[in-house]
Amino acid sequence: MKRLLVLAAAATALFAASAQTFPGSRPITLVVPFAAGGPTDRVARDLAEAMRKSMGGANFVVENVNGAGGTIGANKVAKAAPDGHTLLLHHIGMAAAPGLYRKLPYKPLEDFDYLGMINEVPMTIIGKPQLAANNYRDLENYIRNNSGKLNIAHAGLGSASHLCGLMWQAAINAKDAMTTIPFGGTAPAMNALMGGQVDMMCDQTTNTTGQIEAGRVKAYAVTTARPLSGNKLLKDYPSLQEMGLKSFNLTIWHGLYAPKGTPPAALAQINAALKLALKDPDFIKRQEGLGAVVVTDNRVEPAAHKAFVAAEIAKLKPVIEAAGKFAD
Ligand code: MLT
Repeated sequence: MKRLLVLAAAATALFAASAQTFPGSRPITLVVPFAAGGPTDRVARDLAEAMRKSMGGANFVVENVNGAGGTIGANKVAKAAPDGHTLLLHHIGMAAAPGLYRKLPYKPLEDFDYLGMINEVPMTIIGKPQLAANNYRDLENYIRNNSGKLNIAHAGLGSASHLCGLMWQAAINAKDAMTTIPFGGTAPAMNALMGGQVDMMCDQTTNTTGQIEAGRVKAYAVTTARPLSGNKLLKDYPSLQEMGLKSFNLTIWHGLYAPKGTPPAALAQINAALKLALKDPDFIKRQEGLGAVVVTDNRVEPAAHKAFVAAEIAKLKPVIEAAGKFAD
């Protein structure tokens, strides 16, 4: 009898385990390919909070894997076990890397399953507190009059801040006017800027809003086509287009990815939870408070997300080639 009871208990446990739906008790690791405390990390931690709720209390763990403009973290996920327990939250760098890295260790369109877009974030041109320019016109003149003596920080070759700096310097014909200084993310870069160790940076409002408001950095312009008229802090800063940089229009989109070959049932569950999370009032409030715009459902369709990234790769390639700098 006792043996029968033991067998029954074992069978029950086995059944419960096999019937356990994804994700079960194992954590889901959300890889952020930049340093903690930066804009990508901000989006990831806000999203992890919202997806814990939309996945019934699933255990999300944010892991920062920085370096090489986000390509080290992206490659880690590309090579991870495709079981739904490792995801990548990445931004426009997913589309910039193929143009910058001739030996990229992963293929953005083939090595990932696409889960959907998350948001769009404007960027700001900012300077150290001591920078001797008080508005955008002054800044351009200051750069011209100090060509070769200034520097601009970014989060590594292929990062959003690097891409913005490349595009901005090309647009003002100052390609070699500034030395570029790479960091593991724009969180450490921001510390260096506030401390006066670097002169300028182009960074996302998710990272710059607080520092601009506190007067710890100087703001000069926004990178969106038009000024951010709905943003109480940034509404008075001009867009680069208003300052004469024709067609300059850059916002940083973020998306969610899994390693290629992740089970369709897990992908469907994560996608459904992502759609719910993007409707979470707390998530929306936090993101919009930092200037981000959360996307609507039609951009959270995997096929549409993948088509968008493919189009962005094609769009950015000539921009990067025009800047004439490869990362490897
Ligand atoms: C970037 O410049 O790509 C991001 O700001 C990096 C980061 O999130 O730290």
